[in-house]
Amino acid sequence: MPNRVYLFDTTLRDGEQSPGCSMTVPEKLRLARKLVELGVDILEAGFPIASEGDYEAVVAVSREFPWAQVAALARANTPDIERAAAALKHAKRPRIHTFIATSDIHLKYKLKKSRQQVLDEAVAAVELAREHTDDVEFSAEDATRTDWDYLEQISHAVVAAGARTVNLPDTVGYSIPEEYAALIGRMVRALGPSAIVSVHCHDDLGLAVANSIAAVQAGARQIECTINGIGERAGNAALEEIVMAFKTRPDKLPYETKIVTEQIYSTSQLLAQTITFGPQPNKAIVGENAFAHEAGIHQDGYLKERTTYEIIEPTSVGVPESKLVLGKHSGRHALHQRAEVLGFELNKPELDDLYHRFTAIADRKKGLRNEEIVELIHQVLGQTAVAAND
Ligand code: KIV
Ligand code: ZN
Repeated sequence: MPNRVYLFDTTLRDGEQSPGCSMTVPEKLRLARKLVELGVDILEAGFPIASEGDYEAVVAVSREFPWAQVAALARANTPDIERAAAALKHAKRPRIHTFIATSDIHLKYKLKKSRQQVLDEAVAAVELAREHTDDVEFSAEDATRTDWDYLEQISHAVVAAGARTVNLPDTVGYSIPEEYAALIGRMVRALGPSAIVSVHCHDDLGLAVANSIAAVQAGARQIECTINGIGERAGNAALEEIVMAFKTRPDKLPYETKIVTEQIYSTSQLLAQTITFGPQPNKAIVGENAFAHEAGIHQDGYLKERTTYEIIEPTSVGVPESKLVLGKHSGRHALHQRAEVLGFELNKPELDDLYHRFTAIADRKKGLRNEEIVELIHQVLGQTAVAAND
């Protein structure tokens, strides 16, 4: 399928390593379950050498979702690769993702190595990783500030050593779409069908999604991205924005993914409740205001015909059609549904407890906002945890 684009989700790795986003192993497992439901193709579950928690998370995700393609990150050296391979021991479809920086600036100041040394280490790393799995991805860190001839040379070398995917990250979010498309196009032509060219864009200039899409138009067939665009510094390309751009503009972007778009909003909400922050209110697709119409002219047009001011149907990304206010007249069913949309699976006693707390407040208030409902759910789940520990 020439237009099939693989989505490599790195919420649990690049996303998790950014401030305010660290997750426990059970939290990663809960999110992994949701990401599998969402339909991501590859789940990067951690960087096993970085910490015991990352190692355990990769083990747990591989064990729990044997049918999923699970990736573990490793620098291009033996201890990292052995640790990644060990963490992936239960995975049925393990991917070792090994990387080394290739730009002169990183070589000179960070690695203090020559281009030849880096090339040799990259090849050795891929060869070692291939002893553990057929599915090896190589990333040339800071690819967009790397000399293009050298990048082509190292890409050929790692593919000859057994890499199936070559990822060319815009590590510092420096590139612009036209330039990135030219770089990716050149590497796609150079590698031909020998490997999938992948992209991984950071959002320092707010161009991560635009760069990723331009790269796909130039022939890339894997995109690395995260839910809500979380990730190092300004974050990574947001999965939901890429997917909805493809879905909304098939006339210009005729690309296929396996994402179940109706799962987008609840996945975003689950992540927001797991880490310390959610998407900003005006964030595309998943922000609180993404489908809110305030201006009179807009409301008038919208009420006459939704498509005058709305290019995406809220329900197509799992946002409840009407912004239903949950108040004292709302029933248990509506509350259960809202909890699900917010990313929580509650059992019967938990729902009863939640309903009890909810009605006590709803009697006094006009309506409860999502944040207030989440707060109540946390109280209920806290109670459950206490009961379980007694
Ligand atoms: O941004 C980056 O270059 C990375 C690599 C490890 C893929 O996260
Ligand atoms: Zn990154």
